[in-house]
Amino acid sequence: MNREDFNMLKNNIVYFDNGATTLKPNCVKEAIVDYYDNYTANAHRGDYKTSLVVDNKYEETRNKIKKFINAKENSEIVFTSGATQSLNYIVFGYFKNKLKKDDEVLITVSEHASNILPWFVLQKEIGIKVKYIELDNDYKVTIDNVKKAITNNTKVISLAHITNVVGDVRPIEEISKLAHKNNILFVVDAAQSIAHTKVDVQKMDIDFLVFSGHKMYGPTGIGVLYGKYDLLEEMSPINYGGGMNAIFTKDGYIELREIPTRFEAGTPNIEGVIGLSSAIDYINNVGIEKIELYEKNLRKYLIDRLKELDFVEVYNYNVDSGSIAFNIKNVFAQDTAIYLDKYNICVRAGNHCAKILSDALKVNNTCRISLSFYNTKEEIDLLINVLKNSKNIYNEIL
Ligand code: ALA
Repeated sequence: MNREDFNMLKNNIVYFDNGATTLKPNCVKEAIVDYYDNYTANAHRGDYKTSLVVDNKYEETRNKIKKFINAKENSEIVFTSGATQSLNYIVFGYFKNKLKKDDEVLITVSEHASNILPWFVLQKEIGIKVKYIELDNDYKVTIDNVKKAITNNTKVISLAHITNVVGDVRPIEEISKLAHKNNILFVVDAAQSIAHTKVDVQKMDIDFLVFSGHKMYGPTGIGVLYGKYDLLEEMSPINYGGGMNAIFTKDGYIELREIPTRFEAGTPNIEGVIGLSSAIDYINNVGIEKIELYEKNLRKYLIDRLKELDFVEVYNYNVDSGSIAFNIKNVFAQDTAIYLDKYNICVRAGNHCAKILSDALKVNNTCRISLSFYNTKEEIDLLINVLKNSKNIYNEIL
């Protein structure tokens, strides 16, 4: 649906790599060009009319995001460069000051590198223990397995809402209840879910949430860190500089600005914020429930059609999101991707930044199709036909 809003789709491509980044609707581009053409100025630094327009747009976007994820306060929304920076901020700005030797952080082997490596650094620096919640046979997280993984030392559970390779949807509300019953803080990476299903931080009772603009039809280089107000009050800035300080004096005294300004040092990514604002309007206009339903039907169609191909191995038939990992049997994943590209079909191949998932999947590299609402059944039919003709794949790509 809504294909006419995306100029990229006029280029005769089948874009199945939405988990890497989504295409951008024209309104996002137009919003950014409007800023460049009609009201370019810095934010929070000028006393002239144009600069006040920018200030308003910037803060209106914060309010829009607050509503989009149902946060309580605008001050709980921090702009970052993306989900990765948000996670690093949470780990090094908050948990580094709070966790002690032998405290345990629960993740899974299917997390993205950005939700693993910062914790590994804390493991090295202060001796926390990174532990893994076991996955079931469909690579899913069950409440029972979370219960089993919790000990008296568990202080944090940090999980993707939807993972980026096997696409399992985690039962966030239930995990959150369990975490809080055990005085555990819950960090959620919504990078792969925010554009595909409703995220409500109050209903889900999430302590910290992160996501990126570019996976939700917005620009690259802009992202969001949500934290409950009291937690953000105790988070330290990672970056120091202009805009985030109220006073500093020659003897080294620094007084920080209020939350969230103290976490946004330097000139922010203003065009990123403006583009993200337009992307949120766009999603709201299409309707997140409508998007979810459409993508659910498309996923079912894709899986049913892939089942027809006995030479294709699908690793996550029982997935509840639009991320499908597969290989042509005995063909290297990247070779399949290069073959599909000959037919202008874009998929991602490799380990997808989830390098330790191979322990569970028993394969290092996969091809991944990640769907969006602008994908169609006709595109899936084309993919299936191209796959059906892949017998001589090496003749075609070598
Ligand atoms: N994290 C992005 C992906 O899964 C880049 O492809």
